Amino acid sequence: MNCAMLDRLREIVGAHGYYDRQEDLEPFLIDHRGLYRGATPLVLRPDDTAQVRAIMRLCNEHGIGVVPVGGNTGYCGAATPSADGSQIVLSMSRMRRIRSLDPQNGILIAEAGCVLADVQAAAASVDRLFPLSLGSEGSCQLGGNLSTNAGGTAVLRYGMMRDLVLGLEVVLPDGRLLEELAPLRKNNTGYDLRDLFIGAEGTLGVITAATCKLYARPAGHFTALVAVADPQAAVELLSKLRSTSGDAVSTFELMPRIALELVCRHIPPLTDPFAQAYPWYVLLEIGIHWRDPEVRAAIDTELLAVLDAAAPLDTVVAANETQREIFWRIRESIPAAQRREGVSIKHDISVPTSELPRFITEASERITRIAPEGRIVAYGHLGDGNLHFNVSGPGGNADDDLLRHAADIQRSVHDLIAAYAGSFSAEHGIGQLKRDELLRYKNPVAVELMRSLKRTLDPGRIMNPGKILQDC
Ligand code: MLT
Ligand code: ZN
Repeated sequence: MNCAMLDRLREIVGAHGYYDRQEDLEPFLIDHRGLYRGATPLVLRPDDTAQVRAIMRLCNEHGIGVVPVGGNTGYCGAATPSADGSQIVLSMSRMRRIRSLDPQNGILIAEAGCVLADVQAAAASVDRLFPLSLGSEGSCQLGGNLSTNAGGTAVLRYGMMRDLVLGLEVVLPDGRLLEELAPLRKNNTGYDLRDLFIGAEGTLGVITAATCKLYARPAGHFTALVAVADPQAAVELLSKLRSTSGDAVSTFELMPRIALELVCRHIPPLTDPFAQAYPWYVLLEIGIHWRDPEVRAAIDTELLAVLDAAAPLDTVVAANETQREIFWRIRESIPAAQRREGVSIKHDISVPTSELPRFITEASERITRIAPEGRIVAYGHLGDGNLHFNVSGPGGNADDDLLRHAADIQRSVHDLIAAYAGSFSAEHGIGQLKRDELLRYKNPVAVELMRSLKRTLDPGRIMNPGKILQDC
């Protein structure tokens, strides 16, 4: 990329619309987990869709690779440029307007650079709920949520990002605009192009805005930490709660004892809410829409009866909003606590929920055979059949032993998940990290179709090159 070309790109966005000093570029060169380091001469920060179109037109004409980035909180290196410095980064952070807020039709149109927490707050300001809920919601951006089809902790009730969107505005690699923001719930007019861009990790176009679905905001929550004997007891409890609540369970997160111990060790002032230790825990939440205190008391009584009948070992119901937040912090602190404990090997698998207990047993046996020193920290979204089946090292120098087994552990877990016809990447995507796994485990016809789509939409191969499919 020569200096004249960089100048032309700078001109499109104006004086405040780019970074090119090394200290400003630095945060865009490393992914969230520190697995990848890239290089770039320029981070462009367009202010509106017209600027994105002009950037894409120019880059397409000259074959310059473009790497879109949101909050840079992804797990698979999808937003990190290549190391050769040949690609520019397109940060969406200045495109953060809420273009429209319409509680009556239950929609909100927001630009891709809106921070997720701001989208949630905009919905709350008109007494509605935007339900996507992630540990990184204070920094991740809507465009990244769409590009990775984000999941999180309310999928059970509301679905993944794909389910929370009615329409998209997308700038195609050649600068054309696909404007499909109409807030229609029904629109059977041919192929659903919208779904191509969701989860495409910026490899097919640049999402610049989205029409998001809003929901009724619960007046309160029934939030509980429940101790259970094993994952099978958790699966049975979930089934009963779903029936009783009319499928209103929004969160059902499984945590093993070791996860709670790591949180208590590394994330002060959090402590164990129970008086004694149990093998497994569930964080569950149900939104309650009735405001009448008597109705609320009756609902609580019924839910507690379900918990009792399912015979969990112990239950703590959040007595107020502060306690609810503490329960949530415990769950959301697990990744940070595991990071502070030392090295870990992460997985993001899914199977049908009822199969998770057997999967956990079999995968644990495999890991114990390969690396007896590994400590299994299997936590996550049991209600969605999605677990972060992670393995921590024994600590200290012995952590290196675990790392020596990392490739074998991952192969064994992913082979097992393939035998279950499950997914080796349930919610974190492919990026650079799982490209080889995609080729190994995904149906070859599906991979061929993905390649065809990529070639059709991005013949110049400028959109986030090297992500998802290396050879496209
Ligand atoms: C979570 O559920 O906490 C994240 O998706 C998993 C992680 O941070 O590893
Ligand atoms: Zn997760």
